[in-house]
Amino acid sequence: MKVKIRNPGITDVKQIYEIEKLSFDHPFPSNVIFIQVFLHSDTSLVIEYKGKVIAYAIAAKEGKRLHLLNFAVHPEYRGLGLGKLLLDRILRLAKKKGLKEVYLEVEHDNEIAKNLYRKMGFKEIKVIKGYYHWGKDAIVMAKRLE
Ligand SMILES: CC(C)(COP(=O)(O)OP(=O)(O)OC[C@H]1O[C@@H](n2cnc3c(N)ncnc32)[C@H](O)[C@@H]1OP(=O)(O)O)[C@@H](O)C(=O)NCCC(=O)NCCS
Repeated sequence: MKVKIRNPGITDVKQIYEIEKLSFDHPFPSNVIFIQVFLHSDTSLVIEYKGKVIAYAIAAKEGKRLHLLNFAVHPEYRGLGLGKLLLDRILRLAKKKGLKEVYLEVEHDNEIAKNLYRKMGFKEIKVIKGYYHWGKDAIVMAKRLE
């Protein structure tokens, strides 16, 4: 599978939003994704396959930390290692930029994503009760970069 990994542009927002809707019960609206991509393109990545976006990781630089804001793989392409690949590339990008840590929030019961993050060396830091507007708790996970 020959994929291309690159920074996203605003012309990718429509495709990212389509994957977003297929991936989350409470998707970010497309205007929020537009702003995330507009502001954070240089710290975000998409995977392109046959000219189409099939996965995205949107992350914001906050001082010496990178905050992973949004991350999904198109359902038809899950279980192929693309999530691991994309996260690994985000970690490498953060390291290259001299950042010290990558962190994220994940729904407390999203076992698949938590498995992936643990596998990639993230540790569970704390629980934030009622973090999401639909009432669920978030787990903050972080990985220090050597
Ligand atoms: C989480 C997500 C990005 C993983 O992407 P993916 O490309 O399917 O993941 P990979 O194939 O790279 O698998 C990576 C690891 O995730 C875990 N994983 C993947 N699919 C899994 C499943 N069905 N059950 C349990 N663990 C699973 C495993 O630890 C796996 O490692 P392994 O293959 O060595 O066992 C994808 O499931 C997704 O987009 N989910 C919906 C959106 C979401 O929850 N995003 C995270 C928000 S915080």
